[in-house]
Amino acid sequence: MSKKVNVAVVGATGAVGETMLAILAKRRFPVGELYLLASERSAGESIDYRGEEYIVQNLATFDPSGVDIALFSAGGGVSKEYAPKFAAAGAVVIDNSSAFRYDDDVPLVVSEVNPGEVANRPRGIIANPNCSTMQMLVALAPLHRESRIERINVATYQSVSGGGRSAMEELGRQTGALLNFQDVKPERFPVQIAFNLIPHIDDFQDNGFTKEEMKLVWETRKILGDEGILVNPTAVRVPVFYGHSEAVAIETERRITPERARELLRAAPGVEVVDERKAGGYPTPVTHASGNDAVYVGRIREDLSHPRGLNLWIVSDNIRKGAALNAVQLAELVVAEG
Ligand code: A2P
Repeated sequence: MSKKVNVAVVGATGAVGETMLAILAKRRFPVGELYLLASERSAGESIDYRGEEYIVQNLATFDPSGVDIALFSAGGGVSKEYAPKFAAAGAVVIDNSSAFRYDDDVPLVVSEVNPGEVANRPRGIIANPNCSTMQMLVALAPLHRESRIERINVATYQSVSGGGRSAMEELGRQTGALLNFQDVKPERFPVQIAFNLIPHIDDFQDNGFTKEEMKLVWETRKILGDEGILVNPTAVRVPVFYGHSEAVAIETERRITPERARELLRAAPGVEVVDERKAGGYPTPVTHASGNDAVYVGRIREDLSHPRGLNLWIVSDNIRKGAALNAVQLAELVVAEG
């Protein structure tokens, strides 16, 4: 990776964009020119990258020629409009939105699971999976390789940072208000999020599932290249700032014992097993995930109700491995192509 590449971060002022910059710096990504882009609102602000100040530019008036890699995280609408323009100007686009994830000619890639797919990008666009699918598959792919997973039951406990800065601000504001005996008015979330749980993320679909839940179904099948995998998801927003958690129950073709699962997961890239049967011997968003890169797995145990069933508790920082880190890892795979 000796050659420098010109990088554009679209949505640089957002929760994911900010973390993308921190991760590019931390991993010493070979950044040549760096373009920080956002809406007209933030144009002119300055952001520090490795000790230098960069001025945020307005995406709408930016000329993408000269950009080698564009990391998009400014929502689906922005991606739909601008990602094809960046690709047409010669950039490889790594898109964090759901705009292209289900298109056959756009690869959907988790760097530890199906890295080879990065090269298969006829439109110059690579899609970054949704946060909840990302962490689940980093942990489940090594088990799936051992014995095909037939069915996944998953309930997610998703932090508010997945909804961006405004969602984090709402949790903070409501928490402060309630502790001061004041009323709260939901704005960003459909109902109060502080001291509550909300079983509703993204839009409801005709089948009664939410889009966030269906992402787990569609994306798991596409990334594992297995249209037959059954996935039964429930996605819940919880009043946690950073880190998604998932209670996952899998059914495999052949039985995988908890001991064998621990062994496989200890050897798996990007995974840390935290699985002691004592107080605190399991990962949580605050004690493990927040601010860290790994996908943490604990509470590994046999399903009491199924002969080939295994339960796992999977926790990761949704902004890091769930979004920004994987995007940068995909960019590293592109750079490694030479
Ligand atoms: P801006 O600061 O100009 O609003 P988050 O998910 O944390 O809310 O961040 C969303 C990111 O997407 C921000 O950087 C935001 O920039 C950017 N963004 C939102 N709408 C647009 C747009 N129309 N054009 C470019 N960037 C946008």
